[in-house]
Amino acid sequence: MIHWPYALVTWYRGVKRDLPWRRTKDPYAIWVSEIMLQQTRVEAVMGYYTRFMAAFPTIAELAYADEDAVLKLWEGLGYYSRAKNLQRAARVVCERYGGIFPSEYEAVRALPGIGDYTAGAILSIAFDKPYPAVDGNVLRVMARLYGIQQDILLPKTKTVITDILTECYPKDSASDFAQSLMELGAMVCIPQTPRCGQCPICDHCSAYSAGTQADLPLRRKK
Ligand code: ADE
Repeated sequence: MIHWPYALVTWYRGVKRDLPWRRTKDPYAIWVSEIMLQQTRVEAVMGYYTRFMAAFPTIAELAYADEDAVLKLWEGLGYYSRAKNLQRAARVVCERYGGIFPSEYEAVRALPGIGDYTAGAILSIAFDKPYPAVDGNVLRVMARLYGIQQDILLPKTKTVITDILTECYPKDSASDFAQSLMELGAMVCIPQTPRCGQCPICDHCSAYSAGTQADLPLRRKK
């Protein structure tokens, strides 16, 4: 039987939504989109993303822009430290890398405002490198798929899931694989009532075969 990452990527290629940041391989554009998408829904991000990229089409233009102009375009998105860090990081990229976005994990991860998730997302989506991008959606998908019974909020659980993903990355389609996990989490493997009837990998899913998909992931009561 075809291993689930390939089944997932094949599904993704057939159903993926046409989103503006999926029409580019520019790491800067993908970086901006991932920062905006961190605490904000896709539908809300689209207009902001398009306006932001029109105003600051390159890293240099963002780096040397007036901070007030950057914040103005962020108005309404919230979490303004994201915008400030984005501009700080753009300045670092100009000073340290001549305005070319770095393609090595350590260099990307060291930029202001870029954590493990964002570094993994940029490296995989823009550079096709097999680094996992593990956010809440991906944690949920993986907890169900592998029947992971540990608290999803524990750092250890995230490490376990990151390690599994690193192992099974399809080496020739890292970008689509990273996005296929996001797409599955957003459209099918949703929190309360997953749409298992639409799932391309339900026959690989531990939770589905046990009937526990609505009970996973486990979350410690606070
Ligand atoms: N959520 C986080 N990153 C995303 C992406 N690249 N596409 C759609 N939703 C996302």
